[in-house]
Amino acid sequence: MKNRFFKCVVTMVFLSCCFLFSQDNSTVEGQEIYKKRCLGCHGHSGDVKAFGVSRKLIELTASEMTDRLKVLSDKRMQGVGGASGTMHKQISAVNQEEYEAVLEYIISAFAQSAS
Ligand code: HEC
Repeated sequence: MKNRFFKCVVTMVFLSCCFLFSQDNSTVEGQEIYKKRCLGCHGHSGDVKAFGVSRKLIELTASEMTDRLKVLSDKRMQGVGGASGTMHKQISAVNQEEYEAVLEYIISAFAQSAS
């Protein structure tokens, strides 16, 4: 009797672990990075014009987010198309994995649907 109960508990713990580890954590990580590195200028809900000059993130589509982030983070693009250099500095502080995670997060949290 006791043994069966024990087996049941072990199975449940095992299944819970499977469930937890099968979750995609990238959005969570992206959210953390956003909070730490982007929120101050772009706002909790992506609805602030950073320094009064950027567009609100909620006004961008997913492909615009992807393109703008790439352009703005490229040092060679400073002074081109409204890139002030501010974003280049921000993006320099994150590694490639974090960049992808935060991009995924801003798309899932704020992007307009393309239509
Ligand atoms: C110190 C303030 C500041 C921080 C922090 C910051 N940004 Fe920006 N962001 C700006 C400014 C200013 C612009 C407008 C373009 C420019 O001036 O280079 C901008 C533009 C953008 C744009 C394009 C918006 C448009 O106008 O098309 C995206 C996307 C973006 N930022 C994402 C991020 C992400 C993701 C992070 C965090 C990794 C971040 N920003 C952190 C200031 C900031």
